[in-house]
Amino acid sequence: MSTVLNNVSLLPFNTFGIKANAKYFTEFGSTAALIDILKDPQWSNIKKMILGGGSNILLTHDFDGLVLKNSMRGIEITKEDPDYFYVKASAGEQWHDFVLYCLHHQMGGVENLSLIPGSVGASPMQNIGAYGVELCDVFDSLEAIHISSLEQKIFTKAECHFGYRESVFKRSLKDQYIILSVTYRLSKEHVIHNSYGAISEVLRQKHIEKPTIQDISNAVIEIRQSKLPDPKQLGNAGSFFKNPEIEELAFKQFHLLHPAAPFFKTSNGQYKIPAGWLIEQCGWKGKVIGNTGAHKDQALVLVNYGHATGEEIWTLALKIQHSVKEKFDIDIHTEVNIH
Ligand code: EPU
Repeated sequence: MSTVLNNVSLLPFNTFGIKANAKYFTEFGSTAALIDILKDPQWSNIKKMILGGGSNILLTHDFDGLVLKNSMRGIEITKEDPDYFYVKASAGEQWHDFVLYCLHHQMGGVENLSLIPGSVGASPMQNIGAYGVELCDVFDSLEAIHISSLEQKIFTKAECHFGYRESVFKRSLKDQYIILSVTYRLSKEHVIHNSYGAISEVLRQKHIEKPTIQDISNAVIEIRQSKLPDPKQLGNAGSFFKNPEIEELAFKQFHLLHPAAPFFKTSNGQYKIPAGWLIEQCGWKGKVIGNTGAHKDQALVLVNYGHATGEEIWTLALKIQHSVKEKFDIDIHTEVNIH
């Protein structure tokens, strides 16, 4: 039986390094332990927050409910066919530990997603993505439990409604399910994704012509470490905003006014503009405001210089949003979950 603690600091559990308390807090290491808590009438009418790696949240105030920290561990191969391994990982595993497991066993597909902070359980929630690959490319299915009915359900890829940093768990099923495990489909014959500019550049510098999945992982780690602040040294939650996608007509007008702006055409005919570029153009890159700021190497990453409150970071985020709207008439939306 898991113990529920009172008034627990969430500081060690969020990569932004924000001081906020949970009124009640518990960790669960198994489905049975989680069910015990969810079945207990004492907690039935109390707000709940599920915490994985805490790498994609901004806590703007104390949480007046029960925080459930997922500590479920375990990785196993559940199926194999001539082309793929099917690997099931418990939601509480660290995402990068899972990537290391795949590399060690020569399983391809997640190497471009190396070093993303957070847990396995959060990976489908926001369809994590980096350097030309998204989680949905390797996703097979997941197991989740409904918080109030306790019904356990397997979600197929179609049922997850994956989009750019989106899934059904951030939309219509928000706060209804707790993800228990995720099954990934990983290749035996590796498909190398090295077309992302920064990756091909690193490989060229190292004179690697036929990269392996390990080479790709090494390149991604090098790029991430050179550009993105390590949350252990400087509190942050990765990209704070999503890159906005705009319609062709609006894009044409934007492009006429800002021909130097980088852009990417998406598969649905829209145009994605890097929010980092928009934010930098508004003068925020490297700017320090009190205990907060936009990072000097990647303006899309908001940082906590030590003692920022969640509210301070949120105030900065609103100012940034406002100035991007003023200058470019473009709305940028948060990628990070605000609590
Ligand atoms: N850029 C600027 N100024 C900046 C930052 C970026 O001009 O301060 C320009 C870059 O020069 C480049 C473009 O914006 O032309 C894109 O930058 P980058 O390659 O760094 O990627 P991003 O679009 O800013 C996205 C993801 C990252 C992911 C990288 C690499 C989102 C919201 N972010 O960032 O994901 O690692 O691509 O694939 O889609 C995360 O989700 O937390 C995250 C870090």
